[in-house]
Amino acid sequence: MQALVYHGPGHKAWEEVPEPEITDDSDVIVRVDATTICGTDLHILAGDVPEVRPGRILGHEAVGTIEEAGDGVHTLAVGDRVLVSCISACGTCRFCREGRYGQCLCGGGWVLGHKIDGTQAEYVRVPFADTSTFRIPAGLTDEEALMLADILPTGYEVGVLAGGVRPGDVVAIVGAGPIGLSAITCAQLFSPSHIVAIDLSDARLDAAKRFGADVTVNNSREDPLAVIKDLTGRLGADVSIEAVGTPGTFELAVKLIRPGGRIANIGVHGQAATLHLEDERIKDITITTGLVDTSSTPTLMHLLGTGQIDAKRFVTHHFSLDEFDEAYDVFARAADTSALKVVLTR
Ligand SMILES: NC(=O)c1ccc[n+]([C@@H]2O[C@H](COP(=O)([O-])OP(=O)(O)OC[C@H]3O[C@@H](n4cnc5c(N)ncnc54)[C@H](O)[C@@H]3O)[C@@H](O)[C@H]2O)c1
Ligand SMILES: [Zn+2]
Ligand SMILES: [Zn+2]
Repeated sequence: MQALVYHGPGHKAWEEVPEPEITDDSDVIVRVDATTICGTDLHILAGDVPEVRPGRILGHEAVGTIEEAGDGVHTLAVGDRVLVSCISACGTCRFCREGRYGQCLCGGGWVLGHKIDGTQAEYVRVPFADTSTFRIPAGLTDEEALMLADILPTGYEVGVLAGGVRPGDVVAIVGAGPIGLSAITCAQLFSPSHIVAIDLSDARLDAAKRFGADVTVNNSREDPLAVIKDLTGRLGADVSIEAVGTPGTFELAVKLIRPGGRIANIGVHGQAATLHLEDERIKDITITTGLVDTSSTPTLMHLLGTGQIDAKRFVTHHFSLDEFDEAYDVFARAADTSALKVVLTR
């Protein structure tokens, strides 16, 4: 089969590789019908995730059809259309029993396209298939379901739920990439009074407006702290969500918050970020950070079905599987191409 293979920082190739095989009786082999590229894949190609070794097939998001199922797979059958989630889960370890699938102790967590071969391929082996895939209801397109593989559960769980967004809140979202836009989308489920999107890119801020932000701030020209203070009687935001992953944006997310407020960090940080305890120590703030668990996927799938979340608007570009070079190029140059999510189909 053909797959996108990582060959060390800056190098990848769509090339012939052996087809995956079932190695454990809880595995399935999925024929990939649609897959996409994540900002994290760009981090891998930049060399920021050194545990990804050359030879690894990239990708941790897919929708596909079960081609073969191990003898220990109980809830899925050949021919089923499934979502392959970015998080795999053994289902039985201590953390899986708590719904913290991202922290799985027995070979799950974020493994696809990281520790085992991933989804940017014609076929993928998915471990612990009963607890790592979701059957897709009729009525949801492959493309809509694909937005549940990573971005929507991440924005919802690590941003909105961890930040405890409540009715009437002023919510500041730093970064309006696919993850920030997912947080904007899911925050609206809780009726905040104002969602303030902050980004350096006007194209991303235009998208934030379309996705439901009430106020947008380009922090290359405007001071987000002044905007938030004006909106909140000088107090600060109730919740801030960091969706970039740089020291400066983390510090900004902390600075924007009111006493007693909540800061939810989603960004993957490659460098140390400073918490200014000398300024914050008596402000009663709560900071959360974590990896997505995808425990909310059934809820979000239902919300897609009822039309309460529109997943289609994330998809800006379409390619076929053999066009990965073009797709990565368009995705990596989002400021010029206005790309949000690019979808590759067979
Ligand atoms: N915690 C998790 O489980 C999890 C899961 C998926 C992704 N992530 C992380 O979430 C982050 C966002 O992902 P994404 O796919 O949306 O990334 P992205 O690169 O597409 O978007 C980031 C946005 O931040 C903006 N930005 C950059 N510097 C800024 C600054 N100084 N001030 C304001 N805005 C700035 C960019 O213009 C861009 O629109 C990444 O760090 C990614 O690795 C975390
Ligand atoms: Zn991802
Ligand atoms: Zn587990």
